Amino acid sequence: MLVAPSILSANFGELAKDVEAICEGGCDLVHVDVMDGHFVPNLTIGPVVVESVAKVATKPLDIHLMVENNTFFVDLFAPLKPGFISFHIEEEKHPHRLIQKIRDLGIRPAIVLNPHTPPEAIEFLLEDTDMVLLMSVNPGFGGQKFIPSVIEKAKRLKQLIEKRNPKCLIEVDGGVNDLNVKELEAAGVDVVVAGSYVYKHPEGVARAIASLK
Ligand code: DX5
Ligand code: ZN
Repeated sequence: MLVAPSILSANFGELAKDVEAICEGGCDLVHVDVMDGHFVPNLTIGPVVVESVAKVATKPLDIHLMVENNTFFVDLFAPLKPGFISFHIEEEKHPHRLIQKIRDLGIRPAIVLNPHTPPEAIEFLLEDTDMVLLMSVNPGFGGQKFIPSVIEKAKRLKQLIEKRNPKCLIEVDGGVNDLNVKELEAAGVDVVVAGSYVYKHPEGVARAIASLK
């Protein structure tokens, strides 16, 4: 299992230290939640702060856009050379075009599905996509309860992926911990995002990451 800790649960007063801790602690990606106060009822960080994160991160950034106007934000974050940029299918009229744009910028494109969105909605985008992120909470906040129907959704998505693009990864985001990770793995999930579980683990972030793996 690949692990992408979400820095949303980090201590923003000591952000560099908390990013270094997950990189040294064995994470695979650094998950960065970008919220604009419109697509979701919360506001987080922009390119000025993410640039500082990129400077200390030794693992690729996994930028999760929760915004209106995806194209504008892709242009804003592209110079930081993240590993992935993911955007919500619910907020994009021309997802195929946006996927091509992200790839042309040298970044791996990923699509995010909210809890209500069926995997079939993106079947014909899969062959151009490197990762699909399934939300297992309503986007906007860390520390929420895991929505179990994501397990069935991951299984259905896995079947579509096997048919259309077996290299495409499945990532799950929200309420992930050491109790539900096994079921996620059995459902075909490749990457888990975990914010509060990693940063609030009593034995530290490295131990938390190891337990998810
Ligand atoms: C929620 C974000 C998540 C969040 C996960 O909108 O996309 O990445 O930080 O936090 P936990 O793991 O605490 O649910
Ligand atoms: Zn996220």
